Amino acid sequence: MGDTVLSQFTQAFEEEQKTSKRKLKVGLVGCGWIAESHIEVYKELEDVEVVAAADLIPGKAEAFMKKYGVEGVRFYPSHKEMIDAEHLDAVDICTYNCQHAGPAIYALDHGMNVLLEKPFTVTLDEAVEVCRAEKRSGKILSIGFQPRGDANMQMIKKIVESGALGKVYYIQTGGGRRRGIPNSTFIEKDTAGIGALGDIGCYSLDMVLNAVGYPKPLTVTGYKSAFFGTNPEYQYADRFHSAEENAKRFSVDDFAAGFIRLEGDIILDFRISWAMHMDTPGDTIILGTKAGLRIPSTDCWNGSVGGEMTLYHDLAGVQMQEKIPILKNKDKGLFYKKIRSFLDAILEGGKAPVPSSQILYNQAIIDGICRSAELGREIEIKIPEI
Ligand SMILES: NC(=O)c1ccc[n+]([C@@H]2O[C@H](COP(=O)([O-])OP(=O)(O)OC[C@H]3O[C@@H](n4cnc5c(N)ncnc54)[C@H](O)[C@@H]3O)[C@@H](O)[C@H]2O)c1
Repeated sequence: MGDTVLSQFTQAFEEEQKTSKRKLKVGLVGCGWIAESHIEVYKELEDVEVVAAADLIPGKAEAFMKKYGVEGVRFYPSHKEMIDAEHLDAVDICTYNCQHAGPAIYALDHGMNVLLEKPFTVTLDEAVEVCRAEKRSGKILSIGFQPRGDANMQMIKKIVESGALGKVYYIQTGGGRRRGIPNSTFIEKDTAGIGALGDIGCYSLDMVLNAVGYPKPLTVTGYKSAFFGTNPEYQYADRFHSAEENAKRFSVDDFAAGFIRLEGDIILDFRISWAMHMDTPGDTIILGTKAGLRIPSTDCWNGSVGGEMTLYHDLAGVQMQEKIPILKNKDKGLFYKKIRSFLDAILEGGKAPVPSSQILYNQAIIDGICRSAELGREIEIKIPEI
């Protein structure tokens, strides 16, 4: 066959590749509770197919896909076997916290894009290793902070970026529950690694740090405790354990606080709780030289503010307060946006919607609170080169 004829074939093939609607192939790691919200989104999407799934518990991935009516999936006993055997465009990691770093690094090192559930990792060292794997892979790594897609959360960032607050110098944030200790894999050190601090604390931190442009954390004084989780009086029985057993299993924090100095001369005062004798540890407030913003105490892990926000400022010498109406999210749900934006970044060669370079600082604060609490003093946060 002559060269001209061959090149016609090649051109035709390349054209077809460009125009064909090849579906992105995704592998799911961890088929537990949060994977349910992920699979519901994948089922809606026409340009993606979940072709593989892994879970450490025998039969769990199979039962999961059967429950959601997803067919043609190949099953594996852990992330390693799945990644070794499959050619995937993306790996979606829905494992408990202690199994975030390992699978993420393995997938990135095998040239696969990664969507990783929050919190990023358990320790700062792990987060650094994941960032390094991302760098050497050149692939996309996005961290699963779905509140980023909420219109009210976006409004907080827009207000700060508009300059209306002037120079931001103090932030108080956090939140939590009077009673709301989860069970399952969330309460044991071997699986969760960290408690309320990582589970819901990472969201409160992301809400304000994202708004002010993710300044680098410099020092932290941290505190954590576990008075409720370890007490059978405040524990409860679930399908598998009595209240007493859950109190014995409890080996993470149920309350944490931190006082953090951020680059740019900003103070961050933070507290988070799964259980306490209080309805809320306070609203989120952002104080600036021109105005202050109050965000009513929020379950921000559910992706929205706890009520109308208020902007406090002076006008012609008069102290004003303006309410900011709650915005409705018009389009698809937050999990849809989190997964869609990650897939679009792969398809369009874009950037990670929630980049690890930001969440590294979030993790550094969580890690710093743990280390400072253990040492009983303020510590410097040192983030190694990636
Ligand atoms: N974004 C959110 O709103 C949200 C909500 C809940 C939980 N989460 C996060 O999602 C993660 C998972 O939470 P969950 O409630 O689904 O936990 P889960 O315990 O219900 O499920 C985790 C599953 O991962 C499996 N697993 C662990 N390591 C594995 C490995 N290496 N390979 C294959 N399977 C593995 C476990 O066997 C388990 O079935 C946690 O990190 C949590 O913080 C996020």
